[in-house]
Amino acid sequence: MNDGQNRRAWLKDLIWPAPENTKTPAETAAYELEHFFAGHSGKAEICLEEALGEGYILSQTEMGYTIRGGEAGILFGAYVLIRALTLQEELPAGEQKPYYPLRMLNCWDNMSGDVERGYAGRSLWFEEGKFSYDLGRIRQLGRMLGSVGINTLCLNNVNVHQPAQHMLDDLLGDTARFAALLRPFGVKLMLSIDFSYPMQCGLDTADPLDERVQAWWAEKAKIIWTAIPDLAGFLVKADSEHRPGPNTYGRSHAEGANMLARAIAPYGGKLVWRAFVYNCMQDWRDTKTDRPRAAYDLYMPLDGAFDDNVILQIKHGPFDFQVREPLSPLLLGMKNTAKAIEFQLAQEYTGQQIDLYAMPPMWKEIFAQMGKERVQAIAAVSNLGRDDNWTGHPFAALNLFAYGLYAWNPDSDPEAVIRQWARLSYDLPKEQTEKLVSVLLRSRSVYEKYTATLGLCWMITPNTHYGPNPYGYEFQAWGTYIRADRSAVGIDRTEKGTGYLCQYPEKMQKLYQDPHTCPDELLLFFHRLPYDFIMKDGRSLIQRIYDDHFAGYEEAKEMASILKDLDLPEPDREEMLARMEAQLRNAREWRDIVNTFFYRFCGVPDERGRTIYP
Ligand code: GCU
Repeated sequence: MNDGQNRRAWLKDLIWPAPENTKTPAETAAYELEHFFAGHSGKAEICLEEALGEGYILSQTEMGYTIRGGEAGILFGAYVLIRALTLQEELPAGEQKPYYPLRMLNCWDNMSGDVERGYAGRSLWFEEGKFSYDLGRIRQLGRMLGSVGINTLCLNNVNVHQPAQHMLDDLLGDTARFAALLRPFGVKLMLSIDFSYPMQCGLDTADPLDERVQAWWAEKAKIIWTAIPDLAGFLVKADSEHRPGPNTYGRSHAEGANMLARAIAPYGGKLVWRAFVYNCMQDWRDTKTDRPRAAYDLYMPLDGAFDDNVILQIKHGPFDFQVREPLSPLLLGMKNTAKAIEFQLAQEYTGQQIDLYAMPPMWKEIFAQMGKERVQAIAAVSNLGRDDNWTGHPFAALNLFAYGLYAWNPDSDPEAVIRQWARLSYDLPKEQTEKLVSVLLRSRSVYEKYTATLGLCWMITPNTHYGPNPYGYEFQAWGTYIRADRSAVGIDRTEKGTGYLCQYPEKMQKLYQDPHTCPDELLLFFHRLPYDFIMKDGRSLIQRIYDDHFAGYEEAKEMASILKDLDLPEPDREEMLARMEAQLRNAREWRDIVNTFFYRFCGVPDERGRTIYP
């Protein structure tokens, strides 16, 4: 690995090696502070106050600084102190506590070494069915996660492919060693498990109500937690996209989740159960079934039926990490169930770490929509891989950095977070930093213009999910339709249509149900409208579709020309330029293919006479 300054993600100032011999977060804090103050004036004193847990209090004294905190809090506080001193920013005042106690990074790494939807190279820790990693790199990873306060790393793919079960039996010692590498950074391991695991170990059923199955899991949990006493818990994808689950036995998801939760409860383990469940065998002719409805329909009747250590993990939108989706109504509806909101840093549908897509503006909107009901935990699908720069696109590291900060404070200001990341990653002159910040801030809206205007998602190439293919998913079984014809496009999800809208609280229903009040960016998510529908700004719907596609490409070109002039260090500059070129090709394809697609249906020319290929 290249351990040069610019391969340290946003830790440009932590130029000394990550610690090798620390055992606890407090020891790591002492190590990092000692090295930092070897090159800076002052010093820092650490006061362990267990009651503060992961929280901390930073204060300035005559001699230097004091960090009070619980064991992990001291470390998180130390990184914040180092960051503030590096950037010459003010120290946060008063007690700092993470908003979300459980802040998970879900890695979709397979033991083969592939990463499902991974765009930054192979797995950082698996290869050929075994653990295989560069120790220094894993320590640096621990440090990156600790520096932004992420406290849980789920090591393996939610789609559990063999030989992943070995992590829990003959390779359990290796799993425990890996956990020990991250522990000094305040990061605990979590593991994805296969619901049918008992059947791979000799039982003839995985029925959650079968006592033999219950006893098997209880024994298994005992063995696992003996090896890794602070294991955070299990993550389960069940009855989803052909994964096994309790439905096979006619049991509910509460029965399935609670059985596992009871096996791990004695050790304080959390059972994180994914709510990404829908009919992935839909007949496209069927217009009654509407995929966004699925999770709410399934889980609302189970509200209150889950054990206390179960957390229902719900994607932020009702589909699947699309460029633009409304907030999942399940996040607002289930009042008596602990919930986690799930984001995807791996930009599967948002540019695949090639096209720029800085996520903080999206998160800001999502948290604002959640009001006070911001759920109990947070998860994000990782964008990490073995690439030298960790995230494929050097700027994609921003999303990981920012995720950690939002998990501590969902009210964070996108611009301030992006600026912090830019300054911690690069030594650019101030005006260049500001240019970088402004490009990143607008990157999401640019991407949205050329790929998913008006909430019209799923026009992507099937399977790979990169590049345009407006009808690629139209006749498939995944429930992802846009139903364009020569007069209209979109799906009516109001009461008169599929009824999906009725899953929302009344205030939101009111806002969305009338196409004249529904925000433009969700218009075609909630409504089916004719091409000559007049938008709030007086343009016709079709003209708006054309305009956004033309503008998206033009704005991508503008972003590229601004970035080209920045004095970024190599190899980041070269990597960025190569990706920007790919983004421009992609944006151009999106512009022309989507515009042509609609033009062929409706025959309406562009008002401004720009080229739409017939
Ligand atoms: C998406 C993605 C899959 C993944 C799934 C999930 O559909 O394409 O690769 O398995 O999400 O979240 O489980």
